[in-house]
Amino acid sequence: MEHKNDTSHKEELHAAGRTDEQYMRRAIELAMRGSGHVNPNPLVGAVIVRDGKVLGEGWHEEYGKLHAERNAIAHAKEAGYSLEGSTIYVTLEPCCHYGKTPPCTEAIIGEGITRVVVGSDDPNPLVSGKGFQILREHGISVVTHVLKEECDAINQVFFHYIRTGRPFVAMKYAMTLDGKIACHTGDSRWVTGEEARGHVQILRNHYKGIMVGIGTVLADDPMLNCRMEGGRNPVRIVCDDYLRIPAASRLVQTAKDQPLITACLPGADRETMKLLEEKGVIIWEIPEKNGRIDLSCLMEKLGENKIDGILLEGGGTLNESALQAGIVSRVYCYLAPKIFGGAEARTPVEGRGVSLASEAWQLQEIHMRRFGKDILLEYDITGEA
Ligand SMILES: NC(=O)c1ccc[n+]([C@@H]2O[C@H](COP(=O)([O-])OP(=O)(O)OC[C@H]3O[C@@H](n4cnc5c(N)ncnc54)[C@H](OP(=O)(O)O)[C@@H]3O)[C@@H](O)[C@H]2O)c1
Repeated sequence: MEHKNDTSHKEELHAAGRTDEQYMRRAIELAMRGSGHVNPNPLVGAVIVRDGKVLGEGWHEEYGKLHAERNAIAHAKEAGYSLEGSTIYVTLEPCCHYGKTPPCTEAIIGEGITRVVVGSDDPNPLVSGKGFQILREHGISVVTHVLKEECDAINQVFFHYIRTGRPFVAMKYAMTLDGKIACHTGDSRWVTGEEARGHVQILRNHYKGIMVGIGTVLADDPMLNCRMEGGRNPVRIVCDDYLRIPAASRLVQTAKDQPLITACLPGADRETMKLLEEKGVIIWEIPEKNGRIDLSCLMEKLGENKIDGILLEGGGTLNESALQAGIVSRVYCYLAPKIFGGAEARTPVEGRGVSLASEAWQLQEIHMRRFGKDILLEYDITGEA
């Protein structure tokens, strides 16, 4: 239903001479600063403007702390501005419920802000449309869907998690031009160059969890930490049916400093379990499916534990199971200008795969970017053929 304060997006943009989009772009930039620190909350940025002057900026900085709107308001007030008659640009519909902090709609109304420009709708049933409604009921002009696509893009993890209660899974691998992720000996250091590997650190910061199969742990003894400046380490998850993870592995040795969840089949050896737990490893017994951990059950449990997103770093056996289980939403493929060759060399997706070309998993391109000599291909999985 149209409200008297509704203004069509197009008319507003015309009147404002594209500035709405410019301020919203700035709000998106600010929102991204919260990456890695706000999960399972959304990334949100806000900019307050009056007569072409930016009065305050803010973003949601940390889970449980102030929302973007309140941070922007606080900064504007610290600088001595009254916010009467100003416009706030915010990437996501302002909240209208009491969560860990009071509703942002209250703050907006209380400060006399008269216009609210928003990018994404909040799918959270506690907010969804109600935030807009309350603002309009208080005579505030609300403009929605400004740079909606860009605003939606930064919160794919949040949207998926709020809708399904399960983590958004992004499968990441680095492969040679002939589609190998390791040589026939198992050696895979390194497939890509430094710049591409630097970008992986940004992904590790962005996703709350990182998941690998025991094959990768035994072959590479990885740390699975985040080596980005100012980054935070992801929760590490190993799919390890029979608890084969070595007590001397770097993952186990660091389990007290960086969380390590090892998922195994029910009835795993109690002695091994006890030994690993003493070293700080969290062990989850997950029901079996086709002789291995049921990845769907694992996702359910990770979601219950507030893990909203996972970077799946392989190897090929686990990747194929994850695709078969339908838990993968995104693929990051780093393509290196190298050829390993070898029928025995590992590929990103092993197992049996599909039987017919027409049964292939279908993907839709989101980005193609260059990192040094390597190329990153980013796709969303759109379903089966
Ligand atoms: N270039 C890259 O991007 C990249 C990334 C990662 C890995 N790699 C390379 O890939 C190789 C390892 O790959 P991999 O295929 O041998 O092993 P993997 O996929 O890392 O691990 C597979 C193992 O995980 C366990 N698992 C538990 N639940 C599972 C489930 N639901 N589905 C599938 N597996 C499950 C199984 O252990 P059990 O056998 O005990 O049942 C399975 O054998 C290494 O050479 C590594 O260097 C390369």
